[in-house]
Amino acid sequence: MTENFSIKEILDKYKRNMDRQRELDASLLQEQEKQEWLACLQNRAVENQKMYMENGEILDALEKWLQSPLQEDTARLLYDECNSMYWDGYDDCQVLLPMLYKLIPYYEEAEDIPKLMFLYGAVFYEESEVQSRREGHPYHDESYNYKIISYKKDYFSGMDAKHRRRIWGAYYNLIVSGLGNRAISADESYRCYVEALDFWNSPEVQALDGENEKIIDIVERIKKEWLIVEEVIEESNEEAQSTFCKLAQEMYQEEIAQQESIWQINSEVYAAYLHAQKILNNMSLEEIVDAYLDYYQEKMKLCPDVKDLTEDDLYFLINAPLTIERWLCMGVEEEKSKKVMSLLKQQTQETWYEKLTKFAMPFINGVMAEWCFTLIKYMDTQDEKEECLFQLLVKRQLPTYLHSVMVTHLAEALCKEAKRKCPELFEGLPESIKKDLVGFVRRSALLHDIGKTKITDIVNTQGRRLWDREFHGIKNHPMFGAEMIEKDEDLVKYRDVVLGHHKFYDGSGGYPVEFDNTKSPCRVLIDLITICDCIDAATDHLGRNYKRAKTLDEVLKELVEGKGTRYNPDLVEVIEESSRLKKEMRYIVSEGRMDIMYRAYLESAL
Ligand SMILES: [Fe+2]
Ligand SMILES: [Fe+2]
Repeated sequence: MTENFSIKEILDKYKRNMDRQRELDASLLQEQEKQEWLACLQNRAVENQKMYMENGEILDALEKWLQSPLQEDTARLLYDECNSMYWDGYDDCQVLLPMLYKLIPYYEEAEDIPKLMFLYGAVFYEESEVQSRREGHPYHDESYNYKIISYKKDYFSGMDAKHRRRIWGAYYNLIVSGLGNRAISADESYRCYVEALDFWNSPEVQALDGENEKIIDIVERIKKEWLIVEEVIEESNEEAQSTFCKLAQEMYQEEIAQQESIWQINSEVYAAYLHAQKILNNMSLEEIVDAYLDYYQEKMKLCPDVKDLTEDDLYFLINAPLTIERWLCMGVEEEKSKKVMSLLKQQTQETWYEKLTKFAMPFINGVMAEWCFTLIKYMDTQDEKEECLFQLLVKRQLPTYLHSVMVTHLAEALCKEAKRKCPELFEGLPESIKKDLVGFVRRSALLHDIGKTKITDIVNTQGRRLWDREFHGIKNHPMFGAEMIEKDEDLVKYRDVVLGHHKFYDGSGGYPVEFDNTKSPCRVLIDLITICDCIDAATDHLGRNYKRAKTLDEVLKELVEGKGTRYNPDLVEVIEESSRLKKEMRYIVSEGRMDIMYRAYLESAL
């Protein structure tokens, strides 16, 4: 009994900590006055540190608890906890997934189908979250949804309405979300769509659920949202294409009949309708681009203030520009594409940064990063492209931005002193970099962690220890960053610094393993950023809070110990031998940090 009591107790404590952490994060974005904001930052660090320790104990206790075999009462208790955490917004994968994986074999053995339906659905959702947000690609395992659908065989043998609904939910996940994630092909989505609708229209289902509003609602959503197949419709078979065109026209007519103006029509229905017109040869590609662009601009005027945005508005704001760009890629001539994109850039910068940054929804991180790189493809100047990246960092990852600004200050100081003392260190660099060495260092410092914009917030907020698989996600950030910039001729020069800033100087350690930093023509600059990155991370008493922040002298000692293996010996010596540089760095990481961070914060709020 005491054990049962304690599992509930520890999970409640975990939930309270999650609430508190959200409050602290929100307060950071609200405070304006310098002293207040700094106090907030400091307080957040202190409280997070406490919670980090506490959550560690909770996770240990949970792990231990989960080691004993489940009995009927403990399984029930655990199941109820899972259920409530999942639905009440406490769905942290590190807590939920081990609980779910413990329960699944237990209930599989007991053949408790209703419970399994929830468990499969939840594990599918949590795994998708972990994988797509933290490892950079969508989750492709749809087996849990197929399993739930297979319980259709029991639909008419006493299954209650709540569980019958889960079958439709699984169809929805498969047909719409699976398609959206490209986990299943357009053809497979179409096959399931037909299967689901046939089942729905069967006399038996109609007799049982024909008037069940909740189920009708899901079926309607499947019908309507399957239209997102628009994105890949030209890859699918003829039958799917003709079903798509028919459905798109029907939905469009229905909407037109209901709404006062075309601008009020649902954005996905309208996109599907236009694309259908192209497939049916009623409109050209250019014509559908122009029509949707008009619609986008007009509809934007109707878009409410941030606080009143609905989920539909949110999807419109995100998807409409992506749709237009996708169509441009289908063969619109370059000059016209550039014109359209520059308009979209201006508008998304106004609307996205104003509206979307208020949403902490993790998928927005990925979408915004993608969009930023899409825009860059159409930009002409390097300044424009860099500005676009900095904006992304500021708006999506304030803590990473603040850290990057700190690294910029340290790197500039180290670079200037090294250039004075040992100019030969920089001789082998490409001419284009040598022309403006300090400028290059400054910009690569600001960009070095750009890959983190693709990783979800929970991995960057350190209120609890990270899982191995989350570490794996973090370790991918240099690679994500490099992938983002290497395709662009103006940005590719930063690639090695972005990719190599977590490598050891002699190549013997660090990540990514596959990258040989010792062969890079920019090697010395990778080393320089690596050192400054370490200095900031180790001395930061405001952000990276779970370890005691070190003093500059303590870090220096470590740099000296790692001279020649982990750190570039020449650069470490430049710091060791220059009391002026040490003084400057000591200021930057202590009193200066407050000023630098607050200034960066104010700029970011503009
Ligand atoms: Fe990094
Ligand atoms: Fe960093």
